[in-house]
Amino acid sequence: MRTRINKILTMDKFINEALYNKRLGYYMNKNPFGEKGDYITSPNISILFSEMIAIWTISFWENLSCPKKFNLIELGGGNGEMIKQMLSTFEKFPSFNNCCKINIFEKSEYLKKIQKKKLKNKKVKWLRNLNEISSLPSIFIANEFFDALPIKQFFKKDEKWYERSIKFSKLSKPRFLDILINIKKIEKKIGFKISNNQKIIEFSPLAFEYIKIISKKINTKNGGLLILDYGNQEDHMLNTLQSVKNHKFGNILKNIGNSDITYKINFKLLEKIFRNFNLKASNITNQKKFLVNLGILSRAEIISKNLPFSKKANIYYRLKRLIDEKYMGNLFKVMLATKKNTYFNVGFEN
Ligand SMILES: C[S@@+](CC[C@H](N)C(=O)[O-])C[C@H]1O[C@@H](n2cnc3c(N)ncnc32)[C@H](O)[C@@H]1O
Repeated sequence: MRTRINKILTMDKFINEALYNKRLGYYMNKNPFGEKGDYITSPNISILFSEMIAIWTISFWENLSCPKKFNLIELGGGNGEMIKQMLSTFEKFPSFNNCCKINIFEKSEYLKKIQKKKLKNKKVKWLRNLNEISSLPSIFIANEFFDALPIKQFFKKDEKWYERSIKFSKLSKPRFLDILINIKKIEKKIGFKISNNQKIIEFSPLAFEYIKIISKKINTKNGGLLILDYGNQEDHMLNTLQSVKNHKFGNILKNIGNSDITYKINFKLLEKIFRNFNLKASNITNQKKFLVNLGILSRAEIISKNLPFSKKANIYYRLKRLIDEKYMGNLFKVMLATKKNTYFNVGFEN
């Protein structure tokens, strides 16, 4: 990353530059997905994942009393794989399909091009910002979206709070610099208390802004937000920031612009943020339970029934990657945020 000598960037600004700098940012000029990329997301592991999300979306729509027109918004479309597979499932449910307006909210122009190519001839609207969403009930799907948003990091030392920043003293040698801050001032600015009982805070101002807009849409026109993401439910936040290159974790100050930077969502904090914006986010489970509740095992059995052994084995190998509790099955959590008076627990049954 090129920057002036002696420049200091707060962590969120640093991540934003490393991932989304127009010329050099990680997401702006390469396709990170797949076995040959740096990481693989669930829709790129198996189509069964997107099929389950499609089925979930249809039942959630039914629970909203089948609105004649509604928005489905994918937050962060990646390489377009999930929406592509969801659309082919929706085609089997015309009464749903005729009512559904597909939207993708994507920041990377490079990935947008890939999405447009993959979704050629499909009716999809690409949103420049979330305020462009038409005034209808809206179902938001966010798979590995929030963990890609820049965060701020704060550390408490000797009863004082410091914000972690990056100092570039030489072009090639960035280092961490913790700067004394007044956390109360920050909490006052966002109107939300984040420091109670914490020694470390990871907080994304951008996620907070997006959730504010989304909550308003859901509260006025109805709908919900389904989040699937790498994360935990710890009471105390941890330092979870890491870079990912060639499927391996590393130091975020190395390979800047050439590796992804992500963190683990703290779902307890997320729930508090939703509550702050008057939504209910009590439904939370892990990816394994969610997908199994939706019938992924029976679906795998059906599609593999008449296949030769090697193809069958491939389907089950991929299924295991999605639901094995040692891996994505438990590392990934699923959360649903809705209006307070919405009752829906499909996928979240115990
Ligand atoms: C980890 S990828 C997940 C992609 C996809 N959902 C999947 O499961 O394969 C994160 C996606 O979010 C997009 N993204 C990150 N920050 C964004 C922002 N502020 N606004 C819109 N899209 C964003 C990235 O460009 C990328 O497409």
